[in-house]
Amino acid sequence: MKVEAFTFNFKIYESIDELNKEDADLLSEARRVTKFAYAPYSNFRVGAAAALVNGEKVTGTNQENASFPAGICAERTLLSTASSLFPGIGIDTIAISYNNINGKSDSPVSPCGICRQSFVEFQQRTKHPIRIILSGLDGKVQLIENAANLLPLGFSSDDLQC
Ligand code: THU
Repeated sequence: MKVEAFTFNFKIYESIDELNKEDADLLSEARRVTKFAYAPYSNFRVGAAAALVNGEKVTGTNQENASFPAGICAERTLLSTASSLFPGIGIDTIAISYNNINGKSDSPVSPCGICRQSFVEFQQRTKHPIRIILSGLDGKVQLIENAANLLPLGFSSDDLQC
């Protein structure tokens, strides 16, 4: 028997003001597009904005349905849009923000498990690590240098090999 550990470092900034201009602009965009979320059931509006390797920017928001499982998170809306408009192009950074209409929106929230899986598969197939910036509408900002850090021991296409 042996014990293995998974640890990673991430950065915490006091506010958007401590970010470089490129990251700050991307986070501002993620915050701005929260208003385009369609979230009448949860009242939790998520916005995501990505800077692609080719210099393009893509955004996504959560889109809900009365049949709840049919809804999609902002992050996967973004990945689908990026992949549809710019197939095969990697993503440098994704900023994710949210507006919790019924509560506070001043601390970072983390992507759900399905979105973590989607990030990891996206970066595997484009062979480019994705940086993740997390923050509410204001307050602290978390920076994770590689989305794979959010999904230790993940399932991958390698596991499907015969
Ligand atoms: N949501 C996202 O868009 N991203 C996440 O990472 C977590 C949750 C959405 C799904 C649903 O529309 C609402 O937030 C509440 O769960």
